[in-house]
Amino acid sequence: MIPIKRGEDIKHMREACIVAATVLDRMAALVEPGCNTYDIDQAGKKFMDELGAVSACYNYRGGGPVPYPAYTCLSINDEIVHGIGSITRSLREGDIITLDVAIIYNGWIGDNARTIAVGKVAPEVEFLLKSTEEAFHKGMQQARKGKRVGDISFAVQRSLDAHNLGIVRDFVGHGVGRSMHEEPQIPNFGRKNTGPRLAAGMTLCIEPMVTLGSPEVKMLSDGWTASTRDGSWSAHYEHTVLITPEGPEILTIPESQLKK
Ligand code: MF3
Ligand code: CO
Repeated sequence: MIPIKRGEDIKHMREACIVAATVLDRMAALVEPGCNTYDIDQAGKKFMDELGAVSACYNYRGGGPVPYPAYTCLSINDEIVHGIGSITRSLREGDIITLDVAIIYNGWIGDNARTIAVGKVAPEVEFLLKSTEEAFHKGMQQARKGKRVGDISFAVQRSLDAHNLGIVRDFVGHGVGRSMHEEPQIPNFGRKNTGPRLAAGMTLCIEPMVTLGSPEVKMLSDGWTASTRDGSWSAHYEHTVLITPEGPEILTIPESQLKK
């Protein structure tokens, strides 16, 4: 059963998603060479407090052997997802960092992620970031009533295959609403015209996770951080998307970018 949001539900999803995006945006503004990922995570917690939200990740059980210990997921370079901020991890010019922010506001969840450059990065890394974002948009364009989940998956895969980039298979996109992970699962690879049928009122996290090398995953000893087995760098781009009767709409837009 894929939950359909109606009326007030959609209003609540909009609000939660604006908060999630605003937290991410404020965190991104802090990223610079020399800062450490513990401080960025703590700043994320502070922004959530200010906006009246709580982390959907903190203490989350259902991914690792221990509850998730941080407020946001911060993954550097070859780390793909679910990295844990640490005072000993300082960012250097040329690094990339994924900020993944999922929050609960009024009982509803907004979830978004983006990999950003720390200062100037190598051209192939720039290309990875750009291609990951582009793959998201190709996938999102398929998020329309009457289409199927496989249409999203196929569009993401085709976009990334064209650039010979690795597509992570161990993690997938998902429905989102009152819980962080609702049906359906949304793989970043698949076949057209397969999978569950899409309908207006669905809220979906579309989130390609992409590598410059092999997409094979290695779990770190903290029980949460997933990095690439071959050490190649990885990028992630995620929004919460509402399927409206007219087409897809990104809900995770920061306050500062809302059209008045
Ligand atoms: N956006 C991430 C996801 O959908 C949030 C994970 S929170 C964690 O998987 F606790 F699982 F890390
Ligand atoms: Co997500």
